[in-house]
Amino acid sequence: MTYKEASTSPVFRLLSRILPKNQDIALELRFYNKLAYWREALKRSPLPPTKLMAMVQGNHEAEYYVAGGRRATETILETLEKSYVPLRQFRTVLDFGCGSGRVLRHWKSLARSIELHGTDYNPELVAWASRLLPFAKIAQNSLEPPLPYPDNYFDFVYALSTFTHWDIKLQHTWMKEFLRVLKPNGYILFTVHGDYYLPRLPKEYQEEYKHGRPIGPALGPTIVGTNAYASFNPHEHVRDELLQDVELVEYFRRASRGTPWQDVYLARKPPR
Ligand SMILES: C[S@@+](CC[C@H](N)C(=O)[O-])C[C@H]1O[C@@H](n2cnc3c(N)ncnc32)[C@H](O)[C@@H]1O
Repeated sequence: MTYKEASTSPVFRLLSRILPKNQDIALELRFYNKLAYWREALKRSPLPPTKLMAMVQGNHEAEYYVAGGRRATETILETLEKSYVPLRQFRTVLDFGCGSGRVLRHWKSLARSIELHGTDYNPELVAWASRLLPFAKIAQNSLEPPLPYPDNYFDFVYALSTFTHWDIKLQHTWMKEFLRVLKPNGYILFTVHGDYYLPRLPKEYQEEYKHGRPIGPALGPTIVGTNAYASFNPHEHVRDELLQDVELVEYFRRASRGTPWQDVYLARKPPR
């Protein structure tokens, strides 16, 4: 059956009437999205509107949002486990750049033993995260530091796909701020665009990158902090410059499954 034939069938017409109107999203996707919304609502883990999903993952697919968030938690757990750092040893955890809570929503069961925080600079995403994640404390920060937390507060901060949207100066500024809010010996996990993204760079920038120099931004006219703004960090730059005041614990190339296929870094704040 062709799409044209299907679209005149009574089932199709019925679905078009029942499902929320959105000319930008195909009917089939709206149908599958609806199933995901119902399933997650039954699990008491409601989802944000697809418009917000697009802001954090680049598409309107609810199943991708659910699975991508779960894969991100798996990446975090695997990274910590491989480094012999159990998540459950932490008392205070911050999801920095939490967006609408795509990742945080999967930590609900941890909230009994861990104080969970999320922060983002986009007020719309923050409003939805606050509404959907009553088990976490959600805050809003600005494009630049400071964060609304005291010094030495967190055992663990993770920032998935946020360094990827900053210029190199802002990356350094935020790293300093993360060190301020981390406890001595606290951990920071973050992701960057690494080698996997090299072919996407214009040729002239590929050479720069291969010489260990960070690139940000190289792709089109964009505003720092937005998803369209992309920076690229060779391992040498992260290891020797971004983490110059921090102990690099582990580096996993192309290992981020929730924000595919960014490089994953785990680093530890020095004891004093
Ligand atoms: C690609 S999305 C990833 C969202 C979330 N970490 C996830 O994995 O679902 C990038 C996020 O970083 C946030 N962001 C970018 N710059 C920020 C800043 N300076 N402070 C806080 N959040 C920021 C954006 O608002 C957006 O929610």
